[in-house]
Amino acid sequence: MTMIGVAVAKLDKPDVLIPALQGLGQRHMGYGVRDAHYDSVGVALLKTLRQGLGVAFTDEVEAAWIAVYGEIASRMKEAAKVPA
Ligand code: HEM
Repeated sequence: MTMIGVAVAKLDKPDVLIPALQGLGQRHMGYGVRDAHYDSVGVALLKTLRQGLGVAFTDEVEAAWIAVYGEIASRMKEAAKVPA
């Protein structure tokens, strides 16, 4: 959750964010994390946000989180495919 917070805070600084996500994705490969696991975690994250935010979890907020998580997960997955 801290790392997701960092990623959100650095959305306007891709030169800092992208290398950090690439390193994170490569480490996750070593933890045994595979592509399909990112979908499960994404579903759990959205469910947690919906429960925690209640009425504040508007369609717009949901769409923004789907976009951000999708971007983070795809950077991490791409990096996991590159030999370290
Ligand atoms: C947005 C996606 C994710 C983010 C931002 C994230 C973030 C992190 C961070 C910051 C760590 C601490 C270690 C490090 O920096 O390398 C970590 C560890 C770990 N993550 Fe993730 N993660 C994500 C997705 C996943 C997924 C999809 C799985 C698998 C279901 C997963 C499983 C793990 C495991 C097994 C560890 C190591 C725990 C340990 O040995 O203490 N993560 N993650």
